[in-house]
Amino acid sequence: MPFPRPRGAGAEPRLALSDVFGGNTGAINVIERQGQIVFHATGDCGSTRGPKTQNEVTDKMIGDFTESDAREVPQFALLLGDIVYSFGEPEFYYDQFYEPYRNYYAPVLAAAGNHDGMISPLAHATSLEAYLRNFCSDPGGGFTVTPEAGGLSRTAQIQPGVFFTFDAPFCRVLVFYSNTLEDPGVIANDTIGHGQIDFLRAALQRVKRESYTGALLFAHHHPPYAIGGQHSSSTEMRQQMDAVCAETGIWPHAVLAGHGTRTSASLGSDRTGPKSPTSSAAMAVTTCKNCMLKEASRYGRRKSSIPEQPTRTRSCSNDMTTRITDT
Ligand SMILES: [Fe+2]
Repeated sequence: MPFPRPRGAGAEPRLALSDVFGGNTGAINVIERQGQIVFHATGDCGSTRGPKTQNEVTDKMIGDFTESDAREVPQFALLLGDIVYSFGEPEFYYDQFYEPYRNYYAPVLAAAGNHDGMISPLAHATSLEAYLRNFCSDPGGGFTVTPEAGGLSRTAQIQPGVFFTFDAPFCRVLVFYSNTLEDPGVIANDTIGHGQIDFLRAALQRVKRESYTGALLFAHHHPPYAIGGQHSSSTEMRQQMDAVCAETGIWPHAVLAGHGTRTSASLGSDRTGPKSPTSSAAMAVTTCKNCMLKEASRYGRRKSSIPEQPTRTRSCSNDMTTRITDT
């Protein structure tokens, strides 16, 4: 389905963690001095089966704020789509987002999933209307609290739109909207336009121009690859992204995705390992099918001449944090 263009001019809408922190550069400086950033990445977090399992996930996430080592405290969460089920309408946001995250102490950003763009044929609403109001609020008038928050104090997120570049210390995340089909994910065609391809090209050209040395991540809801489970790979979407990566010579260190409970991330793409020209990184993400918790990953920001270091992997420990370390 067509979607509104993000705010702002140019092909690459941008948001920085400092913007999300309300201009608190002191907090950014602390992260940079610590030499590491930790964030949560989890997808398909809405639930129509009651709050129990969803609250178990958010309780674990909130527990990470009591880490004794300040370097391990998460700085933000990036939801990988399907924030609410089954339809992306305003009435589902309080129970499935605001209430479960009411004690989550950091900002929450979100890629839109297929359920966030789906609207019931019986509803008087338009696709993505509630998502845009709650995650893409225009900060020109200051931070706002939406009616969906039901009086809770979390302000609406200020993303420029459904696709944008998010810059944080040590990492840059390119967020895409893979639209409303169950399968496959779609980022560009003649119906929805090719703005996300132009965005990807502009973002990768900037990475190259700036000789960016942090971890480069892609994030979207539908997985580029899916093995088993009830969802398929998104082959055309992956090939479109690969073509731009090949054209620019810049490849992501990792892709974060939701949608399928078994598949949440992949390294590189069809013909790649990490190939960013100025850094190398390693990561691993697995999911626990039963509890849908995302497993940890570790990215290393390294100088190009430093060889890869072993990647920490575990099969299921309910640790959803992602660490990017300046090494
Ligand atoms: Fe989905």
